[in-house]
Amino acid sequence: MNQSPTKKPWGGRFTEPTNSLVEAFTESISFDSRLYKQDIQGSIAHAKMLAKINVISHEEASKIEAGLLEIRAQIDDGNFHWSTQLEDIHMNIEARLTDAIGEAGKKLHTGRSRNDQVATDVRLYIREAVDDIIVLLNQLQANLLDLASNEVDTIMPGFTHLQVAQPISLAHHLLAWNEMLERDGERLRDARKRINVMPLGSAALAGTSFPLDREMTCELLDFDRPSRNSLDAVSDRDFLIEVASACSLIMMHLSRMCEEIILWASESYKFILIGDAFCTGSSIMPQKKNPDIAEIVRGKSARVIGNLQALLILMKSQPLAYNRDNQEDKEPIFDTIDTVTTSLQVFAAMIPSINFQRENMYKAALEGYATATDLAEYLVRLNVPFRDAHEIVGGTVHYAIENNKPLSDLSLDELQAFGPMIQDDVYAVLSLEGSIQARAHFGGTAPARVREALQEAYARIEN
Ligand code: ARG
Repeated sequence: MNQSPTKKPWGGRFTEPTNSLVEAFTESISFDSRLYKQDIQGSIAHAKMLAKINVISHEEASKIEAGLLEIRAQIDDGNFHWSTQLEDIHMNIEARLTDAIGEAGKKLHTGRSRNDQVATDVRLYIREAVDDIIVLLNQLQANLLDLASNEVDTIMPGFTHLQVAQPISLAHHLLAWNEMLERDGERLRDARKRINVMPLGSAALAGTSFPLDREMTCELLDFDRPSRNSLDAVSDRDFLIEVASACSLIMMHLSRMCEEIILWASESYKFILIGDAFCTGSSIMPQKKNPDIAEIVRGKSARVIGNLQALLILMKSQPLAYNRDNQEDKEPIFDTIDTVTTSLQVFAAMIPSINFQRENMYKAALEGYATATDLAEYLVRLNVPFRDAHEIVGGTVHYAIENNKPLSDLSLDELQAFGPMIQDDVYAVLSLEGSIQARAHFGGTAPARVREALQEAYARIEN
């Protein structure tokens, strides 16, 4: 048997039944059933509007609404049989509605096509998903700020090229993570403006001959405005690409943070201990405690970034207006939302379990001549041109390495051999504390500044 027994809602002009391979290949119900709430929400609004413009009666609209709400309850309870032969979410629900309420069900699709219907469903879905991700981002930011509050005076080495560069406040480092997440939230809020446009009324591509009240549908569905061009509205998926892009950036940021967490948890750094509840062990090496959460989040960034590529490539050769290619937008975007959601949840939960090994961080900052720049800037304040100061300190560091001493252990005589103008007030700038306190401008790592930055960051997430 390679022919479908079910008569299609679009089957009027066909004389042969659909080949079953085609049926299996073209169905989307196996993944777009996830859109049932949005599909029903859109249909109820459409029916109410059809009644308002007298295309159907108010009684029919009420029947449609009650029927759809009943179907929604059945799906909620897992009592709905999805039919592959009915292809997609739209036809599954419409067929069931007509079974349940008769004639009125057959009128629902007046002035509408699955093309504007699916575009509307996806916009409703992604709008909610974006709002949920913004909440998760905020939660993660709150956890990070709480963690940072205890670490303003904790000194760690800041790195460039993964080499010890200059001492910084640990809270300053954590606030850098927070900046990344804050931009991520802004991007989603911005994308939401372009998501929140309503395609209904565009029908298949050219609009409809019924005098639809699009403003009314818009209001019922909480969209900002109806789409301006019917061709564009049924074919546009930019809004999904924007979300996939913002989500890729979120995952790229999480992945960078995870990379640092993995390094910091290693035996070579010993900067942090991650709570047992957020680590796993090895089946062979009994001593192991691995930062798998961070590794999996880092790994999952790959699929989200891959999904962005998939969506871009999906769209790039499509002529106007709707093409069935667009059905391929669902799985990548659903996977993106699921992956970002779980990654943010587990990453945010892990953050409070991190325990900083402050002494090890301090020790690491002492190694690596992290205050060499402070010495150069000290010389500049004594009127030595910066390039000359750089040269003098380079020689001093070379001498200190040869003698296996930190800069602050060099005697005044030793220092003066390189820079005769150096006085004993130099030791204040050679200390880690002196170094971070000196960076007291806006955006710098001085603890007083970091404390302010932290308060401002808290105030921003509360808004
Ligand atoms: N399942 C389709 C999609 O995801 C719905 C629209 C189908 N429209 C059509 N004319 N075949 O895009």
